[in-house]
Amino acid sequence: MNAKKIAVIGLGYVGLPLSLMFAKKHDVIGFDLDKKKIEMLGRKKSYITDVPDDAVAKALRFRATDDESLIKDCEFKIICVPTPLKKNKMTFFESHLSCQGKEYYTFLNNEKPDMSFVLAAAEIIARTLQKGQIVIIESTVYPLGTRHDIIPILEKTGLKAGRDFGVAFSPERVDPCNEKYNTTNTPKVVGGIDAESLEKASKLYESVLDGGVVRVSSCEVAEATKILENTFRLVNISLINEMALLFEKMGINTWDVIDAAKTKPFGYMPFYPGFVGGHCIAVDPFYLSYKAKEYDFYTRFIGMAGIINEHMKMHAVELAEIVLKKAGKELNGANVSVFGLSYKKNINDARESGAIRILELLKQKGAKIKVYDPFVQAIKTDAGDFCSEKSIDSALTETDCAIFLVNHDEFKKIDINKLNKIVVVDCKNLFNKAGSIYIGLGKGIE
Ligand SMILES: NC(=O)c1ccc[n+]([C@@H]2O[C@H](COP(=O)([O-])OP(=O)(O)OC[C@H]3O[C@@H](n4cnc5c(N)ncnc54)[C@H](O)[C@@H]3O)[C@@H](O)[C@H]2O)c1
Repeated sequence: MNAKKIAVIGLGYVGLPLSLMFAKKHDVIGFDLDKKKIEMLGRKKSYITDVPDDAVAKALRFRATDDESLIKDCEFKIICVPTPLKKNKMTFFESHLSCQGKEYYTFLNNEKPDMSFVLAAAEIIARTLQKGQIVIIESTVYPLGTRHDIIPILEKTGLKAGRDFGVAFSPERVDPCNEKYNTTNTPKVVGGIDAESLEKASKLYESVLDGGVVRVSSCEVAEATKILENTFRLVNISLINEMALLFEKMGINTWDVIDAAKTKPFGYMPFYPGFVGGHCIAVDPFYLSYKAKEYDFYTRFIGMAGIINEHMKMHAVELAEIVLKKAGKELNGANVSVFGLSYKKNINDARESGAIRILELLKQKGAKIKVYDPFVQAIKTDAGDFCSEKSIDSALTETDCAIFLVNHDEFKKIDINKLNKIVVVDCKNLFNKAGSIYIGLGKGIE
């Protein structure tokens, strides 16, 4: 394929690696409203753990800008902006604290997609759209989002989708810090509103991907594929969380059970207890449950998974209460150090992280909190902002209880002698036993 001119709208966790991948063979204009990101990229600095500065410096055909006029003549315009949820946090907390039944279902059903970023990006594209161009959506939307929400904005130009310009949907599958699979070697699903859109978008991806392109029959199939993948993960993590809650009571070590079960060479895939966070798994399934309501359909698995996963955050706080009580202390007034603010190990992304809610609950219960994360400097919560201590040692100074929420590699290397005088809550099976009293999520008290 000859070199093309591509615009990538939104230079975040998805858009930046995608831009750099395309820039190996094509000319890429990365457009973002965030001036700080544009300025950093101008200095060849990356703000994403997976993307080294060097990769930005080497991408000679990539230019970052906040000037939308520069994307006008780009033949491909790719949307990579956020698709979060709108949340009524107070309702959520109140109903969550009071029950696990009907009231709580009602709330989860009320979670609403926030499509404002995608619609704003479509408006930007509409202002610059030319005949013959192809618009590709990589942001996750509910099935039919491309057809019902995005195309009408693009057609306000008077140009018609399928006749004057093409449209395709291709979900991003990036898994931050996955050592084996990245944007380049992961197969890419592509669906188009017509055969020409599908072919042009697929060929563009094939020009740079090693993982290959999976052509599907429509934008809707591609949209639903992404939601299915993430709902599968949500539901399976919630299932193992439920097992962990029960096995803990039964005195069975869930982590040992998983290790044994995964030796089965077929029909089983390991998922691990913990907190569901991040921009995808914690969010995308609720796009589907919102859309399902238009069809008078209640997505029971998604609702139940949401309940269990929210409960795990309360459970982490309960474990701290139990273990402190055993040491003769109350959580109210105790010095508690929380280790791990990101939503998963070894990354700097704290969106929808379990730590947010856990810190709020600890604060409500009167704990005096310190936090430490080697990747996340600060985290915002409704109970205030928390800034990371400079080191593990300073986080451990004068603390009564250490709660480990994330299995960062650095935490695995802690000298457990340093934990001898305090109680430990281990939510990620980092230790066999540690601290004066140890309690493990999915294991119980030792
Ligand atoms: N992060 C992941 O691991 C991941 C994986 C798969 C899919 N996704 C999906 O990809 C999409 C993007 O996610 P992300 O993690 O890259 O988000 P992000 O928040 O990291 O990045 C989005 C970028 O878009 C910019 N932006 C917002 N509105 C804009 C506008 N109108 N015009 C131009 N720029 C704008 C923001 O400034 C930001 O830099 C989401 O739909 C997400 O669900 C994310």
